Amino acid sequence: MNNIFCILKNHYGLEAIDVVSQQGGWAALAYKVTAGNRSYFLKMYEKSRASTPKWTALIDEYAPILAWLSQHRLLKGKIPVPLLTNHGYYKCEDDEGIYMLYDYIDGETVGEKKLTAAQVVQLSEIIAELHSYGEEIPVNTEKIKESFDVPFLRQLKNALDQDCKRLPSDIKTVIQPHAGQVRHLIHRVEEWSIALKKGQVRLALCHTDIHHWNLMQSGQHLILIDWEGLRLAPVESDFMCLVDEPYYPEFVRVYREKHKNFDIHPGALRFYKGRRKLEDIWEFLEQLLFDGQADAERAKTMASLAKELEEIGEGYYV
Ligand SMILES: Nc1ncnc2c1ncn2[C@@H]1O[C@H](COP(=O)(O)OP(=O)(O)O)[C@@H](O)[C@H]1O
Ligand SMILES: [Mg+2]
Repeated sequence: MNNIFCILKNHYGLEAIDVVSQQGGWAALAYKVTAGNRSYFLKMYEKSRASTPKWTALIDEYAPILAWLSQHRLLKGKIPVPLLTNHGYYKCEDDEGIYMLYDYIDGETVGEKKLTAAQVVQLSEIIAELHSYGEEIPVNTEKIKESFDVPFLRQLKNALDQDCKRLPSDIKTVIQPHAGQVRHLIHRVEEWSIALKKGQVRLALCHTDIHHWNLMQSGQHLILIDWEGLRLAPVESDFMCLVDEPYYPEFVRVYREKHKNFDIHPGALRFYKGRRKLEDIWEFLEQLLFDGQADAERAKTMASLAKELEEIGEGYYV
């Protein structure tokens, strides 16, 4: 914990009175920090985790865009903006991790609960506003622009093919019955990627990871958090997270108030659903292979991997 106090003091000029570990999310550890009469939320991406470079590479690109977006009336108070360090950066680091500091949101994470009717309307208004911005905004979006590449496929293919013999036997047992289906999906995603690269799909700012653990209710406001995935991309990169929700028809009704001619691009939706599925599989496999997890954690990751693989078998993605 000492390192956290040092980070707060040296990079943010904060004398923390209290630092309490919080339930984190998928990508990072989390701490509630009290300093003076304010509370903060500190996110720590551990350098020991294989996924950390992926989650942190674009912080300096997406954070200024968040700051810009948050000035707009319809998004004010609905998206969190990381606080700047003393030297004017959106992140800092030590040997252990990469850190970002936010104001603490006094509120409740939606998590396993259903969205209320009012929350569906608010979420749709946030996303409709977000999607109304594109390349033309006065902040550079070049580095967050969708390329339709799928960089982890090479490693995933290797794990399935050449490296398969070297996989620990428990992993092999889980993967092997589904290896054919995974290879088939890889092939399809590669085809869809090529088609999208050739096409002319409109790009807009997208969150790309909309789910209920990334939504918090604070007073009257629904807040969309966790913007590591902010991209300039086809809007289907957000709709992939929404189309299967029971509230989707109401979401679209509100969304069309701003985007009258909106229609899903089926090719883009297929691509994003397929790519996300493969990405989740690769992420779990990567954790099992490289993160040195303890037994209980490893068992959980193995169960999650098995569940993802079962879902491919349902034929939904191909
Ligand atoms: N600014 C904040 N204030 C209070 N709690 C937060 C804040 N940001 C996130 N959280 C809580 O921490 C959890 C994980 O944060 P999140 O940014 O989604 O991290 P991850 O990238 O690891 O998923 C969220 O589900 C939410 O409950
Ligand atoms: Mg999250």
